[in-house]
Amino acid sequence: MRFLHQSALAVAYLCVAAAAAVCSGKIKPKVMILTFFNAEGEIYLTKSNLTGALDFRAQQHRVPFASPQFPYLHCTRDYDACLMTTGEAEIQATATTMALLADPQLDLSETYWVLTGIGGGAPDQVTLGSITLARFTVQVGMSYEMDARELPPGFETGFVPQGTDSPDAAWGSVYDAEVFEVSAALRDALTAMIDPVRVADSEMAAAYRAKYASVPAFAPGAAPPAVHHCDSVTSDTWFTGALLAETHTRRVKTWTNGTGIYCTTAQEDGAVLGALVRGALESRVDFSRVAIVRTVSDFDRPYPGQSVMDNLVNGTVGYPIAIENVWLAGNSIARGIIGGWDQTFKTGIPASNYVGDVWGALGGTPDFGPGRVSGGEPVVLPGAKGQHPLKVKRSTRRSRFQK
Ligand SMILES: *[C@@H]1O[C@H](CO)[C@@H](O)[C@H](O)[C@H]1NC(C)=O
Ligand SMILES: *[C@@H]1O[C@H](CO)[C@@H](O)[C@H](O)[C@H]1NC(C)=O
Ligand SMILES: *[C@@H]1O[C@H](CO)[C@@H](O)[C@H](O)[C@H]1NC(C)=O
Repeated sequence: MRFLHQSALAVAYLCVAAAAAVCSGKIKPKVMILTFFNAEGEIYLTKSNLTGALDFRAQQHRVPFASPQFPYLHCTRDYDACLMTTGEAEIQATATTMALLADPQLDLSETYWVLTGIGGGAPDQVTLGSITLARFTVQVGMSYEMDARELPPGFETGFVPQGTDSPDAAWGSVYDAEVFEVSAALRDALTAMIDPVRVADSEMAAAYRAKYASVPAFAPGAAPPAVHHCDSVTSDTWFTGALLAETHTRRVKTWTNGTGIYCTTAQEDGAVLGALVRGALESRVDFSRVAIVRTVSDFDRPYPGQSVMDNLVNGTVGYPIAIENVWLAGNSIARGIIGGWDQTFKTGIPASNYVGDVWGALGGTPDFGPGRVSGGEPVVLPGAKGQHPLKVKRSTRRSRFQK
């Protein structure tokens, strides 16, 4: 049965067959898994018939304005969990997320958004195959950039925060897409759903990571893959090499006021979250229900003695286990949320840290950045319903946002 017809009969049938997920006549997923390119999405479909796997082949729904490469939302039989592939890099990721938000057949008001993709990894934090759950994603691409051959005297890098004249400056002009922060309490709850014993590893990955062992700071890179809490950077540019990695490590620290730890590269995370902030402002999204998961397919810099180019072209040996671990993380989290729906996840886990954008558009006071522009109140858009997008009553906001 595919959700292609809007007739009352079809809806009535679905209400019997699939219970609450579609009884409003809309698809109401408890979990929306986002992936970014074909291999990340296909792993969920090819694993669908394994014991313990959610079967995302059971239903499909065509999403208007989705990527022409990935036009369908794939869902389990009862629509409790759905899977969407956005297309790669920031433009595709934002456009597809907006397409989901705008689809009148979807009710996303209680949906958990779980981003699951592969990326590069920093060997001082993670290794090939590692599963990471982030609290921040930082748009390192939002910078002035100078070619290294034209650097002013004293500049250690060509990346400079916009509106400043120094790579070490904190903030200059702010576009409001530099940093997004998600719930650490949710992240912790979802982490517990991933069985660390099942994290995939391979002999090829073990042989490659061993080459990082001679550098004490790269001990995490030389260790077997595990589940980590650390943060992603978003950039359309696939950067590589120690110098850019160190630059971006510093940028993540500065822009998160010392809290964020750079460990993975992504081309989509901030792009999705920017769209989800807009969804929250229109009461279509609960921004305290967002999780960022990245697994590591390659290292962001070479091992000692290796050239940057060699690591770039020959270093994606973690790709198969990174894809496998995308599925392990996403499938485990989706099952955990569905299994704990009545007890925990329908009501939700209150965020104990600030969640949202740089400016505080959703309310609360950002615990990073140059300071809120919205006076701690959520922005209410003209003509919008005026409900708090996070469904937090004014009197209780303090408990939801500690800072
Ligand atoms: C799962 O489906 C694939 C084809 O999509 C098939 O090759 C495989 O044998 C199936 N596995 C099980 C356990 O049914
Ligand atoms: C990649 O590996 C191959 C095989 O070892 C080698 O011939 C080639 O030079 C490497 N590429 C670079 C850019 O180092
Ligand atoms: C973050 O750090 C900057 C620079 O030190 C400071 O101006 C700003 O007030 C801090 N923001 C918050 C929310 O703590």
